[in-house]
Amino acid sequence: MPEQQIPHKNQPVVIIGAGHSGVAVATGLRTKGWQGRILLLDAEKETPYERPPLSKELLKAGAPNESTPLRKEKFFQDKGIERVGGLTVESIDRPGKTVLLSDGSRHAYHRLVIATGSRARALTVPGADLPGVLALRTKDDALELKRVLLPGARVAIIGAGYIGLEVAAAAAARGCEVTVLEFQDRVMSRVTSAPVSRFFENVHEQKGVRFVFGAAVTAIEGTDWAEHVVTADGARFPADVVLTGIGVIPNQEIAEAAGLHCKDGIFVDDDGRTSDPEIYATGDVTRFTSRIDGQSQRLECIQNAMSQADSVAAHITGQPTSDPEIPWFWTVQHGVRLQTAGVRHPDDDVVVRGTPSEGKFSVVYLRNGRLSAVDTVGGLSDFRPAKKLIAQAAAIDPALAADPSISLTDAALQPSL
Ligand code: NAI
Repeated sequence: MPEQQIPHKNQPVVIIGAGHSGVAVATGLRTKGWQGRILLLDAEKETPYERPPLSKELLKAGAPNESTPLRKEKFFQDKGIERVGGLTVESIDRPGKTVLLSDGSRHAYHRLVIATGSRARALTVPGADLPGVLALRTKDDALELKRVLLPGARVAIIGAGYIGLEVAAAAAARGCEVTVLEFQDRVMSRVTSAPVSRFFENVHEQKGVRFVFGAAVTAIEGTDWAEHVVTADGARFPADVVLTGIGVIPNQEIAEAAGLHCKDGIFVDDDGRTSDPEIYATGDVTRFTSRIDGQSQRLECIQNAMSQADSVAAHITGQPTSDPEIPWFWTVQHGVRLQTAGVRHPDDDVVVRGTPSEGKFSVVYLRNGRLSAVDTVGGLSDFRPAKKLIAQAAAIDPALAADPSISLTDAALQPSL
């Protein structure tokens, strides 16, 4: 084909952020036939990599200090995806349709995709900037943490969410003395119910992890390295290492400065379009209305990053988007897997299915009698049926759902004719 006839030839797509979502947009564009230039910009220099192993496998003693690439470098070359690493995007010029990079260069876009993700929320108490106070988001963060997780080290973890608990498990396995300080009265309160929290607290305690709930951290003390974590009741917890895992905030600043509609996330529609139809956003940085339950949400999970990326690539190439997938999440702590389908709300009814003390059970969440989410612990047999039933907003008989000998599908009430 003569060069001037190549479709999209002069229509560069610029993608900001090479995490799971940004890479998936680039890949999806090529799969769906985009032949124009694709520029994938990222603040990190190295080949884009998987994040889940950073708080799990990478921290293990003896594990190689390597991240797992999302795609090999050759893949990007073969697909003609131009990767520019180690530079940040400083601003977006919407009228001129260009982005300005930290080295002063400007790149024109036909369509722009913001996939800037989120960053670890910073602890803002006195002493939080002392050496020895760490957070975990990037490979470099993980390697820095790994260096100090030495046998016998006293590790104070602030926040009992996914990060705090996965690191607690890794640190305990490496022979550290682990104390987790959590503001709420149980672990993972953002994402799960009390029966699952209690189960995982017990799993951790069996491995020597100590929890302090209702802990309001007021300071970190030390001279040239963190030595104590201090809480509002005056307690002082000795620490050789402090890890904060107190949630994330979306990297939306350049979008906000460009006047895109943002509030705890960049607002996008079902196709991933922001308030500027030539600019898309995907992944952790977005806020959107769930097509499943109509709630405004920001989802921090790979499934959402991939599924939004697929919609964006489809919309840019003028192809139909797929039906929304039920969001799902997983974590592994001390070898025990929690896998969740759907998004639970704190006021959903909670039905425990099976016996937690046996190490394998599920928790079923019902909203107005309909299945909204399911947590599976130590086994995945309820996971697939759960996704299907959540997509159907199936009405569930709670008594049947509580009986693990009856399949979840059989616990669904047939719609009345
Ligand atoms: P998170 O939101 O899961 O948990 C944060 C915890 O910190 C909450 O329990 C909260 O109550 C507590 N907290 C907040 N402020 C506090 C304070 N000042 N003192 C004590 N406790 C406080 O966030 P987390 O664990 O930092 O995870 C960050 C991100 O990484 C999330 O996007 C998460 O989805 C992602 N991630 C996901 C994993 C997975 O899916 N398996 C694994 C690791 C990270």
